[in-house]
Amino acid sequence: MSSAVVIPAAGLGLRLGGETPKAFREVGGESLLVHAVRGLKAATAADLVCFVIAVPPGTEEAVGKELEPYVGDVQLLVVPGGAERPDSVRAALEVVPVDGIDCILVHDAARAFVPVEVIERVVDAVRAGAQAVVPVVPVTDTIKRVAPSGEVVDTPARSTLVAVQTPQGFSPEALRRAHAVEVLGATDDAMLCERLGITVMTVEGSADAFKVTRPQDLLLAEALLAERRLA
Ligand code: C5P
Repeated sequence: MSSAVVIPAAGLGLRLGGETPKAFREVGGESLLVHAVRGLKAATAADLVCFVIAVPPGTEEAVGKELEPYVGDVQLLVVPGGAERPDSVRAALEVVPVDGIDCILVHDAARAFVPVEVIERVVDAVRAGAQAVVPVVPVTDTIKRVAPSGEVVDTPARSTLVAVQTPQGFSPEALRRAHAVEVLGATDDAMLCERLGITVMTVEGSADAFKVTRPQDLLLAEALLAERRLA
């Protein structure tokens, strides 16, 4: 039983600022993408056999060379990403091998420090029969729905809300069906499954799987890495 992982890494990272696309910003001297790949490789129970990485068009060869030393005996495919995240995931999904893979993970390069336990929990849940699995953490803010006018519509009870991370795990059939329909506006892959009525299960995520989005997240990432290197 083997897994493949799709990594959308083609975003420009405008909220992070700087000239370099987000996945190639460095923390502790290595790119977020390298950290993400290394973390996934460390999840040995996932039995990874293939990485497919969607990158900014034109950078495929350079990224392939950069990642080669980190993937070991796992197949590495690098494809040009698309305009929006779902386009990048779909482009990558098109080249994921069909035979012998029982779980496809989709993991944001920007969540470079996800702990091995989270990856393995997601894979275990897919292997136990879930069609779609997401790691989640409780939200600490009160969340409101707001109308375009700025007026508050309502406030869902915080105890019913969670923040969703990656890797998200899928049976290959569910993920391919989800991406075969309209993907406009999808901010994660599980919501495409929800639209089709596919049950999405949750497992415990981790604060360390935060998404590097804003400049202060780079400081947090540096601190987390320094702590791990001391441990
Ligand atoms: O923009 P956001 O932080 O939600 O992006 C999440 C992930 O999706 C990042 O790893 C980013 O590189 C990736 N992405 C992509 N193609 C895009 C936009 C985002 O692969 N067109």
